[in-house]
Amino acid sequence: MTRKRILTGDRPTYDSFHLGNYVGSLRNRVKLQDEYEMFIPIVDLHALTTYFDKTKQIEGNIRGLMLGYLSVGLDPEKVTFFIQSKVPEVLELAYFLSVLTPRPLIARQPALKEKLDQGFQDTVGLFYYPVLMAADILLVRANLVPVGKDQKAHVEYARDIAIKFNNTYGEVFPIPEPLIGEVPTLPGTDGQAKMGKSSGNAIFLTDSAEEVRKKVMGMYTDPARIHGDEPGDVENNPVFIYLDAFASQAGNKRHVTRTEQYKERYRKGTVKDVEVKEFLVEVLEEFLEPIRQRRTEFEKQPELINKILKEGTAKARKEAQQTLDLVRKAMKMEYF
Ligand code: TRP
Repeated sequence: MTRKRILTGDRPTYDSFHLGNYVGSLRNRVKLQDEYEMFIPIVDLHALTTYFDKTKQIEGNIRGLMLGYLSVGLDPEKVTFFIQSKVPEVLELAYFLSVLTPRPLIARQPALKEKLDQGFQDTVGLFYYPVLMAADILLVRANLVPVGKDQKAHVEYARDIAIKFNNTYGEVFPIPEPLIGEVPTLPGTDGQAKMGKSSGNAIFLTDSAEEVRKKVMGMYTDPARIHGDEPGDVENNPVFIYLDAFASQAGNKRHVTRTEQYKERYRKGTVKDVEVKEFLVEVLEEFLEPIRQRRTEFEKQPELINKILKEGTAKARKEAQQTLDLVRKAMKMEYF
């Protein structure tokens, strides 16, 4: 029996992951790698849509992301890691898909408006983003796409495009499903709705123990609560949201029980913020320290990452060529 396929990509516009990335996506990937055949492209072509003036950093970012994957426990024996632009068949497929994609459909993409509001240039490449992403997914005929909530719309485009292709030319693609992480969006340490790489409100997997402590101690809690003896809000409190997200990590029941106890005391006003924060530091350190150690081990083997990427890229390319054969055949464009 062939295993179902998962694909999810990351743009190499940065070189490290934060807790929000972990909760929203990486955790799922680690869990799913045993059960599914997993593909992880590092999507450098997508990075270019907002990152074309700083391309020289892409290579270093790719290394950083690879170290991140390996340190959280993604296993290159189970996962195919590859570089998107080194599998050029993706562009060929994107073109075939583009002629079937209604322009008004992608003109409505919320992500485009967001990026333009952020000041990125209104280029054809940026507009075309969802078509290329659909090609990423369909290129390996993926069944499941684990992504953060903000990417759900893009996976829906891939579904719509796959359905249209199949209806037009015959069944070539499985219809991919989005898979959204359990705690879809982790707030920032400053209480903003989302932890962001460049928002100054992120705790990174690469942060040292001192940095983590400092960030947690400075975290936003319940702004209406001034003294530790006042009842406080647990639901919208980032400290408790992080505890909920990480206390059960590594199946630590003791941390889960303590989290529930702290919530009760917080609601009643019998615990100070600082004590709950101390506990959060402990929980996060238990999670982060093994990740740091694994990273240090991988950093000592610089050739390993190249090897993993070369092998993965060769494997992905083979899959891609098979898909393109099916596509050309379905489209009656084999010619000879
Ligand atoms: N758009 C995704 C992001 O911004 C990256 C991405 C590109 C992707 N291709 C993909 C994610 C295919 C999942 C599947 O994070």
